[in-house]
Amino acid sequence: MSHDDFPTDYPAVVTCGLPYANGDLHIGHLRTYVSGDTLARSLRRIGQRTAFVSGSDMHGTPVAVNAEKEGVTPEEFAIDWHEKYEATFPEFGVEFDNYGQTHDETNTELTQQFVREWIENDHIYEKEIQVAWDPEVDQPLPDRYVEGTCPYCGEKARGDECDEGCQRHLEPGEIEEPTSTLTGNPAEYRSREHKFLRLSDFQEYLKGFLGRLEGTDNARNQPKEWVEGELQDLCITRDMDWGIDYPESESESDDPETSRTESDAGKEDLVLYVWVDAPIEYVASTKQYSERVGEETFDWTEPWRDGEGEIVHIIGRDIIQHHTVFWPAMLRGAGYNEPRAVMASGFVNLDGKAFSTSRNRAIWADDYIDEGFDSDLLRYYLVTTGGFQQDIDFSWERFQERVNGELVGNFGNFVYRSLLFAHRNFEGTPRTEPSEEVLSRISEAIEEFSTGLNDYSLREASQAGIRLSKFGNEYIQRNEPWKLVDENEEEAAQVIRDCVQLAKATAVLLEPVLPNAAERLWNQLGEDGSVHNARLEACLEAPPENFGEPEALFEKVEDDRVEALNEKLAERIDAAETSADEGDETENAADLEPLVNERIGFEEFQELDIRVGEIEVAEGIEGADDLARLEVDIGVETRQIVAGIKRLHDLESLPGTRVVVLANLESAELFGVESNGMVLAAGEDADLLTTLGNSEPGTKVR
Ligand code: 2FM
Ligand code: ZN
Repeated sequence: MSHDDFPTDYPAVVTCGLPYANGDLHIGHLRTYVSGDTLARSLRRIGQRTAFVSGSDMHGTPVAVNAEKEGVTPEEFAIDWHEKYEATFPEFGVEFDNYGQTHDETNTELTQQFVREWIENDHIYEKEIQVAWDPEVDQPLPDRYVEGTCPYCGEKARGDECDEGCQRHLEPGEIEEPTSTLTGNPAEYRSREHKFLRLSDFQEYLKGFLGRLEGTDNARNQPKEWVEGELQDLCITRDMDWGIDYPESESESDDPETSRTESDAGKEDLVLYVWVDAPIEYVASTKQYSERVGEETFDWTEPWRDGEGEIVHIIGRDIIQHHTVFWPAMLRGAGYNEPRAVMASGFVNLDGKAFSTSRNRAIWADDYIDEGFDSDLLRYYLVTTGGFQQDIDFSWERFQERVNGELVGNFGNFVYRSLLFAHRNFEGTPRTEPSEEVLSRISEAIEEFSTGLNDYSLREASQAGIRLSKFGNEYIQRNEPWKLVDENEEEAAQVIRDCVQLAKATAVLLEPVLPNAAERLWNQLGEDGSVHNARLEACLEAPPENFGEPEALFEKVEDDRVEALNEKLAERIDAAETSADEGDETENAADLEPLVNERIGFEEFQELDIRVGEIEVAEGIEGADDLARLEVDIGVETRQIVAGIKRLHDLESLPGTRVVVLANLESAELFGVESNGMVLAAGEDADLLTTLGNSEPGTKVR
């Protein structure tokens, strides 16, 4: 890997985090894939040889749990979703060079080779650990088969990740108060032998690596804290049969003394942890691409192992630890090259609240396509709204505003009026050279594009073209060719020649984010070939002399359309809520946590200092998906309290809300923010407790 500016002399590999093959994609997922595609197209545009790869994440408990619910095998279940994703991505212009899957032969072989390398390099050891076990069904409970409390932040967590709190990866046996998701029973812990990758071998290496890593600040900085402290080794096996088998090492299989004997007894079902074979698919997918196009065109070993290359991972910010700590150690331990950059994106919210797939509160990829919107409109929204690391909000109103203002009103308007005027008055491009002013403005835009890309800011790179079309609109307005054409045809020709050049440059600059519209514009200009193959230099090359009458590139999104879309969304959410409520009522009171039989005395209750409070400030904590920082007036003083409500409430609307606060809870630090008390809330949705009357802040609750 070099740290030279792009384009470099080495091949680049752009990867996107693998989607678990277990459910419909929504536009929150698409943010990563559209961004990866935009990055890959942008890199090619500036002359960087690039492979863009990903695949479906077929293994692990997320898939096994859902397959079980549907009564099919995990393989059948995962293949169906894999095929669905393969068909969906191109509908959004996401064109992978190779889209594989983790269960195929290439990945299985490569994963087992990685593990053998680790064994040979002495990074693997075996240890007896306590794993969660459901006594009723008599089976182990890996990862998502168990839920409980995170030992680090006290939030509700899944077996291998604190998804609602501090986002840390949890090792088997770490979760507290474990409950089986199969039966709802409290889980027991039982001893099992498992294999570990000794991450501590890589501690010094990882510190250096994080110093070199490029990409977004969250991915470069968050893990520094983790590698400074003691690095916990990674358990790389699970008690399951769905996954890639733990391989016998070559020496073991040759040596009868150490081959599968007593030490392996009872390990028939040991497979590799899904987070072992999933990132290795990045390599496997590149290998498949090489095999398809030939090594002379793209040799996968160059970036990954034997040469140099620029590996850039695009992920969601919930999997930073996996990509900046575990994965570089895995690569290093097997003699592979390290990534150059990790870009970790924020999430997409819907009208200020997190998507909820169970409540059908999401904009599904299929629904968007069924509405008949050009995928470019969504691509533009996802890539250019907010910085890459920030959570962004989607609403149909904002979508309308961006489309009508920037795509229809600015870009579409400029190229349409320019090409129409050129066609009507000059049958195409006027036969003259573009002016110095315009050539230098285009060069500036090219520079902005390259700088944005080298700063890993897709928004900046994409805005270079939009700003250029804004300049074009001002330029045509200022020079009024419609007046000049009667007064001074030569001057009118000059202005229009400039505008046609600007239009061509916008097509080239905006192709990565708006591939469909750019291609339409390219064709309208009468250009040969496809804009997808054009390089940045084409911005300054002359357009064809003749072209026909243009058509508008985009259609306005009308108000009644937005109204109808909002109605549909609201109906869908209501229907899901009603059926969830009906289910809640009829299904079972068994879903409710059982009453605690052990009684406490009144004196013990009195030890709890519960007060009425009023929220004064509510804001999200950066880097934490679910946590919010609140300032709550509890009469005698104002308390800072951290609450797991970021995605469950519209934070902006909370100030002024009366709440109930446990004031004498010991203080804790979450994501570096001190929390002094607890705001009481009911259930999974953190329904905030409030008061019926007007009790003032500070009033004691008895
Ligand atoms: O978190 C997830 O959705 C995982 N399926 C991502 C895997 S990314 C990679 F490393 F393979
Ligand atoms: Zn936690």
